[in-house]
Amino acid sequence: MVRFLVALSLVAPFAAIPSVEAKEVRVYSGRHYNTDRKAYKQFSKETGIKVRLIEATGISLVERLKREGKYSNADVILLVDAARINNAAEAGLLQPVPSKELQTNVPSRYRDPLNRWFGFTRRVRAIIVNPKIVDPNTIKTYSDLANPVLKGKVCLRKRKNVYNQSLVADQIILKGETAASAWVKGMVRNVSQPYFGGDVSLIRAVGQGKCGVGLVNHYYLARMQAGSSGKDDQNVTSNIKLVMPNPAHVNISAAGVANSAKNKAEAIKFIEFISSPKGSRLIADPTFEYPLNNLGTSKELKAFGTFTPDNISISALGATQKDAIKVMANAGWR
Ligand SMILES: [Fe+2]
Repeated sequence: MVRFLVALSLVAPFAAIPSVEAKEVRVYSGRHYNTDRKAYKQFSKETGIKVRLIEATGISLVERLKREGKYSNADVILLVDAARINNAAEAGLLQPVPSKELQTNVPSRYRDPLNRWFGFTRRVRAIIVNPKIVDPNTIKTYSDLANPVLKGKVCLRKRKNVYNQSLVADQIILKGETAASAWVKGMVRNVSQPYFGGDVSLIRAVGQGKCGVGLVNHYYLARMQAGSSGKDDQNVTSNIKLVMPNPAHVNISAAGVANSAKNKAEAIKFIEFISSPKGSRLIADPTFEYPLNNLGTSKELKAFGTFTPDNISISALGATQKDAIKVMANAGWR
């Protein structure tokens, strides 16, 4: 007992000395690419700020944050897709960030007008074609997928997936709901295969000739063609042609400072890093996404060529998601 007291009295004076706490930032990520960690390591190396990563898929991450409320440990929230990030903002999970650097790093169409979220990588909803079944030269843009000559040759992912919801939202804003509905109905009439659960299985079906043409995010095809998921996928995708729709629907991965952030300054620094030309490239290159300001470096992306984004802002997409789901359901998109 005596010894215990002595020990305590020895420790106490040291504990009273103010210590420099290691800086850190807690990142809740709806992205699930191991390669992101490399970029975070580089951030830590340059700033001395430690990154603690918590991963969960898009929807469950938002649900978790809503549940945790102000007790959440989140400093930064990372999500993919316009609708998800908009929903997180509308649910009050993000706070506005005044940062000149973020305004410079992120083109205005890829960030929230209220500064609650900022894009850091880009993805194109692209058209893929099996040239043995459909002549790629006959496909220029999304509306061509409604052409009756493609009856039985179009493959689509299930309605519940946000990527297609955002594409339909994009077309509603561009063309109006009547024209967009006619396009979706025409496309749905051309579908024969069951609706797919993911972009990867859809790409395989196109490669195997079960479908002639499909809609996917560009990076899934690039990854498979690069051999990231093995030789079989590389072989089955080798003759698939990607058609860059002109203009292209571009979506993003985006980041925001959590409303609950206890390390706000570090959180802002982190987002400034991943949206910088260097940080955006470090994240986008290994996943075959496009960085914010260029077309990437891999030979697979080079082969896809350049693209012209349509002039729809990401925040407009999120606001039209509900209308998009309605249009898809009415057309019989399963
Ligand atoms: Fe994805």
